[in-house]
Amino acid sequence: MTPSRQDKTRRHKAGGKPQAKPDRPRKGGHAAARADERRKSPPSGDKQNERRSRQPEPQWIALRDGDRPAERVPSILQSVCADGFHLIDSGHGLKLEQYGDYRIVRPEAQALWPPLLDEKTWANADAIFTGDTDEDGMGRWRFPKAALGETWPLRIMDIDFLGRFTSFRHVGVFPEQVAHWQWMRDALQNASGRAAGAPKVLNLFGYTGVASLVAAAAGAEVTHVDASKKAIGWARENQALSGLDDRPIRWICDDAMKFIEREQRRGNQYDIILTDPPKFGRGPNGEVWQLFEHLPKMLDLCRAILKPDALGFVLTAYSIRASFYSVHELMMETMRGFGGVVESGELVIREGGLSGNEPGRALSTSLYARWLPQ
Ligand SMILES: C[S@@+](CC[C@H](N)C(=O)[O-])C[C@H]1O[C@@H](n2cnc3c(N)ncnc32)[C@H](O)[C@@H]1O
Repeated sequence: MTPSRQDKTRRHKAGGKPQAKPDRPRKGGHAAARADERRKSPPSGDKQNERRSRQPEPQWIALRDGDRPAERVPSILQSVCADGFHLIDSGHGLKLEQYGDYRIVRPEAQALWPPLLDEKTWANADAIFTGDTDEDGMGRWRFPKAALGETWPLRIMDIDFLGRFTSFRHVGVFPEQVAHWQWMRDALQNASGRAAGAPKVLNLFGYTGVASLVAAAAGAEVTHVDASKKAIGWARENQALSGLDDRPIRWICDDAMKFIEREQRRGNQYDIILTDPPKFGRGPNGEVWQLFEHLPKMLDLCRAILKPDALGFVLTAYSIRASFYSVHELMMETMRGFGGVVESGELVIREGGLSGNEPGRALSTSLYARWLPQ
C-alpha cells in the first residue's frame, strides 16, 4: 500500500519528524501495566523474582499515523562469493571460509549437517578458532601451519582493508553484508545526479568501517558511529589502506542512541541509514545497549532523521532469538506514513566449495529488515 497524498503532505509539513511523540508510550498502555506489575511484585529473594527483575524494560514507542508501507516477505538475501571471500564448506557445527589467502575454521552452531569436503581439506586450514561457540564468546586462534600476524590484507567490492583475528572469533568483516553493500552502492550511484549534493549515509555500530568505505567510494558523505575507540582506529586504518583518505567520512566514537538523539535535536538528516546493532553492547561512557529494550526507540529516532526522499534504511540483527517477523513488523510500524516498501527475511551465505563456484548449502547468518522507497 502506498501512502495517501494527505499522509505524504503531513510528513513533509512535519519536516520528517514523527507525528506521534516517539519517546512517550500511550497513556494507560502496556508500559503502565508493566510498571504496576513491577510495583506489585514481592521483594526480591526467590529466583523467579530475580528473573523477572532482569526482564528487559523496552522503551516503548507510540503507534504512528499513516498507512503501513508495502511489504515483501519472506525475502532471502544471498551472498554467494565476493572476490576476497567465500564460504567453502560447513557442517558438524563448524564453517570453513576463505578470506583472501587464508582458510579459516570457526564454530557455526547452525551447521547441523555433515560437511561435504573431507577431513584432510578441513585440517589444512590456516587458522582455527576454538572456544565458546556463542556468537560473541571468547576463545583462541590456533595456526596449524605457520604462526600468523593479527591482520592480513583483504579486498571485497574493490575496497582494500585488513582481516583481523579477534578474540571474539570475528575476523573484522561480516561478508554476508555484501548483499546490502551492493544494494547501497547501486542506490548511491543512481542518486549521484540528484540536485541535493552528495548523498548522506549514517552507519550505526559501524565496527571496522567496511560499509562506510563502500559508501564513501560510491560518492556519499559518511557518518560512521561506533562506541569502541579500537574499532574506530581499525576503521581509520582501513580508510588509509583503501586509498579513500580524501573522502568525507566523519569517524565518531559515541553511543549510537545518544548520537541519533543529538542528530534529531540538530535537525540533521540522512539519505541512507545502516544499523547493525549487537544483542548487547556498551557506549563509551558505559551506556547500556540491549537490543530488546532499545531497538524500537532506535528505529523510531532513525526514521525521524531520514530525509523525506530517503534512499533506504537497513537493519540487521545477529544472534538473537527472534523470527524475522519481529524485526519486520517493527520496521513496518516505524515506517508508517513514509510510503515505500519494507522487505525482511534472512541474510544467508551459500557454500561455494574450494573454488567458490560450486553452490552448496545455504547458511543463515542474520535477520534483516530494510525499508526502500519502492
Ligand atoms: C557486530 S559489530 C557491527 C558489524 C558491522 N556493522 C559490519 O557489518 O561489519 C557491533 C559494533 O557495535 C559497537 N557497539 C556496541 N555497543 C554500542 C553502542 N552502545 N553504541 C555504538 N556502538 C556500539 C561495537 O563496538 C561493535 O563495533
